[in-house]
Amino acid sequence: MDKIRIAVIGAGVVGLSTAICIAESIPGCSVTVIAEKFSPHTTSDVAAGILSPHFSPETPVDRQKRWFEDTFAHIFSIAQSAEAPVIGVQFLSGWEIFKEPPKERIPFWADSVLAFRIMNDSDLKRFPQVTFGWTYTTLLCECTYYLPWLEKRLKNAGGQLQAGKITDFWELDGKYDIIVNCSGIGARALTGDMKIYPVRGQIFKVHAPWLKHFVRLGNENTYIYPGISSVTLGGTRQKDDWQMSVDPCDSKAIFEACCAYEPSLKLARTLFEGVGLRPTRAVLRLEKEKLERDGRLMQLVHNYGHGGAGVSFHWGTAKEAAQLVQECAMELRCRPIHNKCKL
Ligand SMILES: Cc1cc2nc3c(=O)[nH]c(=O)nc-3n(C[C@H](O)[C@H](O)[C@H](O)COP(=O)(O)OP(=O)(O)OC[C@H]3O[C@@H](n4cnc5c(N)ncnc54)[C@H](O)[C@@H]3O)c2cc1C
Ligand SMILES: *[C@@H]1O[C@H](CO)[C@@H](O)[C@H](O)[C@H]1NC(C)=O
Ligand SMILES: *[C@@H]1O[C@H](CO)[C@@H](O)[C@H](O)[C@H]1NC(C)=O
Repeated sequence: MDKIRIAVIGAGVVGLSTAICIAESIPGCSVTVIAEKFSPHTTSDVAAGILSPHFSPETPVDRQKRWFEDTFAHIFSIAQSAEAPVIGVQFLSGWEIFKEPPKERIPFWADSVLAFRIMNDSDLKRFPQVTFGWTYTTLLCECTYYLPWLEKRLKNAGGQLQAGKITDFWELDGKYDIIVNCSGIGARALTGDMKIYPVRGQIFKVHAPWLKHFVRLGNENTYIYPGISSVTLGGTRQKDDWQMSVDPCDSKAIFEACCAYEPSLKLARTLFEGVGLRPTRAVLRLEKEKLERDGRLMQLVHNYGHGGAGVSFHWGTAKEAAQLVQECAMELRCRPIHNKCKL
């Protein structure tokens, strides 16, 4: 039996995890990841990597909850292993505080993380600027470590990585049987999907090993996330802004906002400043599509538009995308393609 050839476009956290779920769950297939950029040059590499999603009002909440819980369980088991620091994973506790209490007093993911509770007056003494907050323990997954590990895991499962920019899906016709679209913000140019837009995020990585807890301003852009070898300070959320260079005005604003909640940051040394474009869409696109041209059929599975929650949702959406690929593969095996039956 010939192998079903699957191409995954994109080597960010979504593309690599999707490729792994396919390679590890579908027998008799070959998986190739094709991407213009690999770690450390993807948007995913810029993410702080906290597992704590923003709620997307246009996606059913049980779907978001499942994506988050699948991802949490996967990263949780890494956190419980000896390799955790090499893979860039750790538990992280801290405070999410609000100047204005949120409409939803309890987020949909409250019982998915550990030790979630609403802060009481005693907890709030730490932050005289606010009147409401949550405290919880979640996981941090730093992609500059995690993506190289995913690449290795994919190769161990028989997958391949290939550098290249795809300008038209039909370039791949005849070479692959199923194409999986995990191109992040690249999907806009690649597919002409105008529903996806960038939300620009600028961050600092600083050396401040004395910080052990996260601080995040709910409904705002300011956050402090201590990681394995640096602390990520953010950030900005600039809709439809494509500027990839660091803006010194943003740098100043981010640093001042973070120092207001953690004054000791004034002593921190800057290691890195960077920008990423969150691939944002009202509804994350996770579905099958069949394209036809000149009597040729192309099977696509889309998995893009994770916005500011790509790390928080990646494993859950990867599992679901692999399921869709499995359905396409079943169809192909039972039907002649390219004038040749795959059975
Ligand atoms: C500042 C900042 C902080 C963030 N913090 C968090 C956080 O704490 N927690 C969280 O959950 N999320 C966070 N996010 C969001 C997260 O980074 C994204 O949701 C996630 O990285 C999206 O992953 P992706 O794999 O879809 O896209 P990307 O990482 O952008 O990967 C896209 C891939 O597709 C490739 N590609 C695109 N077009 C083409 C083409 N035409 N041909 C070939 N290859 C192509 C690219 O080269 C790349 O390999 C943050 C984002 C930013 C910017
Ligand atoms: C706040 O909550 C903590 C933890 O549950 C508890 O120990 C403390 O007594 C509470 N303080 C007040 C003022 O309610
Ligand atoms: C990605 O999605 C867009 C939007 O529908 C689509 O037009 C394009 O063909 C897809 N690209 C790939 C490589 O699947």
